[in-house]
Amino acid sequence: MFGALSGLFSSDMAIDLGTANTLIYIKGKGIVLNEPSVVAYHFKDGRKRVLAVGEDAKLMLGRTPESIQAIRPLRDGVIADFDVAEEMIKHFIRKATRRSGWAKPKILVCVPHGATSVERRAIRESVIAAGARKAGLISEPIAAAIGSGMPIADPTGNMIVDIGGGTTEVAVLSLGDVVYAKSVRVGGDRMDEAIINYLRRQHNLLVGDSTAEKIKMEIGTARMPDDGRGARMEVRGRDLLNGVPKEMEISQAQIAEALSETVQMIVEGVMQALEQTPPDLAADIVDRGVMLTGGGALLGDLDLALREQTGLAITVAEESLNCVALGTGKSLEFETQLAHVIDFGN
Ligand SMILES: Nc1ncnc2c1ncn2[C@@H]1O[C@H](COP(=O)(O)OP(=O)(O)OP(=O)(O)O)[C@@H](O)[C@H]1O
Ligand SMILES: [Mg+2]
Repeated sequence: MFGALSGLFSSDMAIDLGTANTLIYIKGKGIVLNEPSVVAYHFKDGRKRVLAVGEDAKLMLGRTPESIQAIRPLRDGVIADFDVAEEMIKHFIRKATRRSGWAKPKILVCVPHGATSVERRAIRESVIAAGARKAGLISEPIAAAIGSGMPIADPTGNMIVDIGGGTTEVAVLSLGDVVYAKSVRVGGDRMDEAIINYLRRQHNLLVGDSTAEKIKMEIGTARMPDDGRGARMEVRGRDLLNGVPKEMEISQAQIAEALSETVQMIVEGVMQALEQTPPDLAADIVDRGVMLTGGGALLGDLDLALREQTGLAITVAEESLNCVALGTGKSLEFETQLAHVIDFGN
């Protein structure tokens, strides 16, 4: 009976602290929070006060007056601004639990596989400072694989490619652990930048980050459209030659060109992983294909482009944006089985 009760009150949680989005999973409930990793500050009388966090703060990005600053505290999947990250985690935990918390939760957080010990400590300390009783770390590719439903405990090679905002993590797993992992510093942010640079160079059109992200989501594609043009979209920005607002039509083929270098880096990451994987495991991957997770996996025709260029079967995970959070959450329930890959720092 006490078991059932403590289960009811348990607020053990998992956090996917991403460069673009933070998700919180509560044991027994699932994903309860999903917000952009952004904090907005107001400067008044030389003091800094939190104005908004998450969704509200993201709306302010690129639109702030001098007295307000909107910050993304993570870069390349790791904490770049410690104080801001801590503030953000605290806010999200409070929002997710909606109570002052008489019992401090145990929190599992995923970290990029290649995170340094300094980066790992920074994440652990922020989570403890934000109110955790105990903070465990798990590798992102393991979480992504669990969340996408791959049979990671089997003695077979499984390749997972998680394309986030900041990084793309390519990993090969077998028997529940990582055999090979590599982090490529390209992801959704780099795609947005590539679109901005392309429009500036080719069309003297200056657009902001959020417009670039919108273009990517609406007509972004990893592959030249078959008719050589594809869908079109009206884009508004500033004409760099005379400084006035300008609207022009952009085609999918142009965006494919803008994104080709970024896509190529992801393709190379997959090829390198395959080359450096022991032959038997590489053969398993040829048989079973590759699983894509993360928001970047939703880029139009990315699966097709990867298949054409690597010859491997490619699957985009269901709920690809949620896989890492779901997998970290599931790890809370299978903590004993996964003890060898969860690091509680003691
Ligand atoms: N439909 C879509 N097409 C293309 N890109 C998309 C789409 N939906 C979301 N994205 C991009 O996915 C990225 C966010 O993905 P995700 O939430 O997996 O990143 P993250 O976990 O926060 O980052 P990281 O894992 O690098 O720390 C953003 O760059 C976003 O623009
Ligand atoms: Mg991620």
